[in-house]
Amino acid sequence: MDKLVVHGGATLRGAINISGSKNASLPILAATLLTGEDCIIRRVPDVSDTNYMIQILSALGADVERSSGTVRATCADVSDQAPYELVRRMRASICVMGPLLARKGRCVVSLPGGCVIGDRPVDLHLRGLEALGAKIEFEGGNITLTAKDGLRGAEIDLRGTHGPTVLGTDNVMMAATLAEGITIIESAAAEPEVLDLANFLNSMGAKITGAGTRRIVIEGVKELHGVEHTVIPDRIEAGTFMAAAALAGDGVTLRRVCREHLKAITAAIEQSGHRIDFNEAGDVCTVHRNEMTQGVNLVTAPYPGYPTDMQAQMTALLATTPGISVIKDTIFPQRFMHCAELKRMGADIRVDNGTAVVHGVAQLSAAPVMASDLRASAALVLAALKAKGSTEISRLYHIDRGYELIDEKLLMLGAHVERVKDR
Ligand code: EPZ
Repeated sequence: MDKLVVHGGATLRGAINISGSKNASLPILAATLLTGEDCIIRRVPDVSDTNYMIQILSALGADVERSSGTVRATCADVSDQAPYELVRRMRASICVMGPLLARKGRCVVSLPGGCVIGDRPVDLHLRGLEALGAKIEFEGGNITLTAKDGLRGAEIDLRGTHGPTVLGTDNVMMAATLAEGITIIESAAAEPEVLDLANFLNSMGAKITGAGTRRIVIEGVKELHGVEHTVIPDRIEAGTFMAAAALAGDGVTLRRVCREHLKAITAAIEQSGHRIDFNEAGDVCTVHRNEMTQGVNLVTAPYPGYPTDMQAQMTALLATTPGISVIKDTIFPQRFMHCAELKRMGADIRVDNGTAVVHGVAQLSAAPVMASDLRASAALVLAALKAKGSTEISRLYHIDRGYELIDEKLLMLGAHVERVKDR
């Protein structure tokens, strides 16, 4: 397993391109199962999560190939059973359920396990698909959904105890594109990645309105056709590098971003005292670090609120921001694995009942730390950029799930990092 050694103290300068969105790419790749025609998807980041999804499509019988950032997928004749070995490795595989059920009238997918950020139930996904007419059985750790007479439109409310479900909205929306009649999804997730999926589906011939709001209306059609699509920028990668620039930068520029998707992240970083300037088009931003900063209070919320996927990275920034910050994760209350590792580096953080209270310290110190999940590992890299000494971050595979070429991008900005192959 690779390690990343980060020698703290370098000042980040210069500009990098932000990659296409991992979390938009995954459901869009799954949506290619809805047609037997060629689909061309551009700016799919080369990360292990998207490569898992490509492997799942291939294992289902699709003809899939990737050439640099472009994926061509043709799902002419696919099986209805997702391969357990691959599905168990990535929770997001669950988003093949809706398209497979709609295309084949049946699908078998293994129940995703939980993960370190918390229990990952799929009850809302199943509530929606059952409302569309699917019969659901559980056996041997698998979910089997059948709809031998096809799916029928329905009115569905997808609200859960922790708010809307992103992939649950995706699954139901994809299934509803081929259902007979009208489907209305209330309490839908409004993330930009859901809207990007809806735009992809509409280009395939679907009839979806309201995506990007809490109420999505889908009028079922008989079939969908092949399409070409370019995935939106990855707002979480952009936010991660914005936090890095606020921590250790001196005028870092990020290209291929989308200002609209970054509003809550920009507001939080500016509230702590830094400045972020966007160009007219809103696709390039420059982060100006400020020495005079202050703690902030953050509560994660469904889009357009502050994203839970940026909670760990902001905690790393606030660990050395003077003052007290209070960070509450309402979506994944257990998503604080990074705090124990940050404390090993000297951070002053107390976590209790889904809330972290951070007292900013003058400086963190290097320590051997262990990545636990995708965003927690990004937080450790950020903290190490400014820590005194050289920090070794092990289990780097967590980072490689969702950040394309992160070490190369950091090196381009002047960070002193090196990826060490474990013997
Ligand atoms: C998506 O996961 C993202 N993943 C996650 O990003 C992100 O953290 C999450 O949305 C929340 O924004 C992808 O898009 C691939 P949810 P998803 O269903 O859809 C509860 C990353 O770092 N819930 O929106 O699986 C759930 O427990 C990843 O890139 C139910 O109760 O998350 C959570 O508390 C990590 N029942 C809340 O809803 C369900 O059936 C939101 O989960 C489904 C979810």
